[in-house]
Amino acid sequence: MSLVSFSFPTPTLFGPGSVSELPARLKTLAIQRPLVVTDSGLVNTDAFRTLAKTLGESAQGSQWFLYSGVHPNPIENDVRESAAEFTRRSCDGVIAIGGGSPLDVGKAARLLVKRPGLAFAKFYDERDWSGLAPFIAIPTTAGTGSEVGRSSVITLDATRRKAVLFHPELLAKLVILDPKLTTGLPPKLTAATGADALTHCIESYTCPAFHPMCDGIALEGIRLIVDALPRAFRDGADLDARGRMLVAAAMGAVAFQKDLGVVHSLAHPLSTIGGLHHGLANALCLVAGMKFCAGRKPGLYRRVGIACGLDLVKGADPDADQATIQFIATFLADLGLNTRLREHGVKPEQLDALAAQAFDDPCHKTNAVPVTAADLRHLYESLL
Ligand SMILES: [Fe+2]
Repeated sequence: MSLVSFSFPTPTLFGPGSVSELPARLKTLAIQRPLVVTDSGLVNTDAFRTLAKTLGESAQGSQWFLYSGVHPNPIENDVRESAAEFTRRSCDGVIAIGGGSPLDVGKAARLLVKRPGLAFAKFYDERDWSGLAPFIAIPTTAGTGSEVGRSSVITLDATRRKAVLFHPELLAKLVILDPKLTTGLPPKLTAATGADALTHCIESYTCPAFHPMCDGIALEGIRLIVDALPRAFRDGADLDARGRMLVAAAMGAVAFQKDLGVVHSLAHPLSTIGGLHHGLANALCLVAGMKFCAGRKPGLYRRVGIACGLDLVKGADPDADQATIQFIATFLADLGLNTRLREHGVKPEQLDALAAQAFDDPCHKTNAVPVTAADLRHLYESLL
């Protein structure tokens, strides 16, 4: 057995209204001039207004600053601009609030603050990650789990591909999971982001690395999502469902430190080439990816099905897989996530580029079963 390391280190504050703890926590972390990083849409939401009220209005002399230019799929310039604002305002910490994109930008900006001249493509060569400004993550969606992740996904200018910056120093010093901040998320986005969390749990559980701690977290994440996502979808004000989804999303991201699989490799190019929302892209590919894996590794989804509440302790492996996959297909359809790729603007002539980029994506290398370029092309064809 090879050497592995297990790590679950992020301090997390959970509960309705937990964002009110922020001023005290800023003191503990010695942050006096935080830069708030978010996107332009979030600035007009109740979630942002709650944060602003908590921090105190800047007009009244409080020392906090704002960068709200993050794109839906964040680009290099978002990181550069937020880092420049941090320096211009002499900030001493970053609070990122929003979905995965502001959280990823807030995380990465700290490295550019420390090394302003660093070429983005050279992030991979960076050896000194010490001394980054403290980072607080406040998610307003329950999906990416970026708040507990040690990676930041940014689309590079030069290649238009998503680069994954990865280092433990990127981790947040504090995560605040406040379900009240997610009640304004519309049903469609609630479904799509929740499907991302579900995909994280399923793919991390079924990837073959040895990590029983992540496996347990992934299975419990699935149980929570199957219960809570339909409730949060139907009633956005259901704080219990919103809270469970926030925790489940964080659990999905903790679990995928183990790794991901073919569904994420299919999803990433659908965002960079096709412009699809990441969670939607995962949702549209999940069932096909599960069928592909189950066909080559029977029994793979038995415990996933049990986590979904199905009675699958006994019975043949292929039957357990089929029942689980059928459950997930119905679950996604009930959330409106059973559309075809062409309904989202994907064209047959894009399949070659999608398949090539999917094959270059690292996620499928840790998939439950090996994946070829031809497999990826066939999967896209089946989803078109
Ligand atoms: Fe994801």
